[in-house]
Amino acid sequence: MQEIKFYSGENIPLELHKVRIVQKLHLVPIERRLEALYEGGFNTFRLSTKDVFLDMLTDSGTNAMSDNQLAAMMQGDDAYAGSQSFVRLQTAVKDVLGKELLLPVHQGRAAENIISIAYVKKGSMVPMNYHFTTAMAHITQNGGKIAELLYPEAYVINSSHPFKGNMNIEKLEEVIKHHGANNVPFIRMEASTNLIGGQPFSVQNLRDVRAVADKYGIRLVLDASLLGENAYLVLRREEEFKNSNMGDVMKTMTALADLVYFSARKISSSRGGGICTDKMEIFKELEALVPLYEGFLTYGGISIREIEAMAVGLYETLDETMICQSPSFIKYLVDALDAKGIPVIKPAGVLGAHVDAMQVCAHIPQTEYPAGALAAALFLVSGVRGMERGSISNQRDEYGNETYADMELLRLAVPRRVFTLSQIKYVEDRLNWLYDNRELIGGLRFVYEPPVLRFFMGGLEPTSDWPQKLMAKFRADFGESL
Ligand code: F0G
Repeated sequence: MQEIKFYSGENIPLELHKVRIVQKLHLVPIERRLEALYEGGFNTFRLSTKDVFLDMLTDSGTNAMSDNQLAAMMQGDDAYAGSQSFVRLQTAVKDVLGKELLLPVHQGRAAENIISIAYVKKGSMVPMNYHFTTAMAHITQNGGKIAELLYPEAYVINSSHPFKGNMNIEKLEEVIKHHGANNVPFIRMEASTNLIGGQPFSVQNLRDVRAVADKYGIRLVLDASLLGENAYLVLRREEEFKNSNMGDVMKTMTALADLVYFSARKISSSRGGGICTDKMEIFKELEALVPLYEGFLTYGGISIREIEAMAVGLYETLDETMICQSPSFIKYLVDALDAKGIPVIKPAGVLGAHVDAMQVCAHIPQTEYPAGALAAALFLVSGVRGMERGSISNQRDEYGNETYADMELLRLAVPRRVFTLSQIKYVEDRLNWLYDNRELIGGLRFVYEPPVLRFFMGGLEPTSDWPQKLMAKFRADFGESL
């Protein structure tokens, strides 16, 4: 993709799309935002969008759809079985991901459910570059365990390493030897490793993982939910691919995996998900589970209209002007925060900007959830809803003990083509203010803790009256401003 330079010399990510449908936003006063926090148990998942100004919770199902996706939805072929919409999706999966056999599912975690039911049992060990919450939950629900095998540089916040999502190949072999290849049902590689700041792996690393998988006869599973963005960063950061294109990089990666699954909510800006493979034996092992948990094999629990949008969305991931929009805004935000000395994950990755709450809230112990506290504090002072990606998002171990996260992050997702640059500048401005007033942020404690995926619906409370004090300082500095 050609670079667009500004005469001023400024680095500005220019939008290569126009906005044709808009949705009104509401920026409610800080007093109302404080009430909303108490009502929502200081958990940003439990806020109502009527109180949220910029929704940076996730990119899942919130990316802007294109005119072509909306148009395609009108030609949905509603049929319980044998729908032509499914045929179009199959063709898109083959063209974009290079796999012939497709099982549709209603979203990414449904694919994780099916794969885990089919392959994971008590005593199984699944090595992966890093876990994703739902992937881990399904593996442990089926009696398995996971091993996270990143290189040490993955955990360095202020880094310039281009591929922090790379799997540690030596450790992978060690884990397989230690547990026995028979107990390793698959190796899982996650494109643009979500929970450590949207950090990619290189194609070379995936090839090295493939070689180990072949040596021990183990399946290689690729979570392709953020594959487009991973490919975009490969084009920019991996020498071998500097003259390549999105399609070639994506297919090179998927060709290395036996089984590819994805959340269409992310990769194709629609709803749904899928499992694809070119191995008939894998297809047969999983096929029967789809009608059991999802729906018939030509709709998989997804509406036909969304299947059409998914097919078009998959082709659109090949368009760099579309795929670059989120990473370039993220880089803009990361660079701006970094310039002010605010600790953020570097290099800028995909999905969102990730603020290091362990440093920003160094005065809050991990037992009081610094990332959750920072997410609540940012919402209070700005109406910006981010997501805690730290110990609250972790699950307790088999004995019920807390497991503290490697990183305490506030994730500020930048869904594709949704925000304008002045909105990003507002986020930067309020974060700057919050950073200058960070000593006012206090801890949180659980008052309601669900046993599984507690971060979704868990309820917390502040450990003191810090939110009131933070609000008073906001009013003192901003006066009547919203
Ligand atoms: N894998 C990855 C890498 C993901 O990021 C997600 C979802 C899933 C699987 C599960 O897919 O939501 O369609 O069931 N990530 C969202 C997020 C929820 O906010 O990061 P799903």
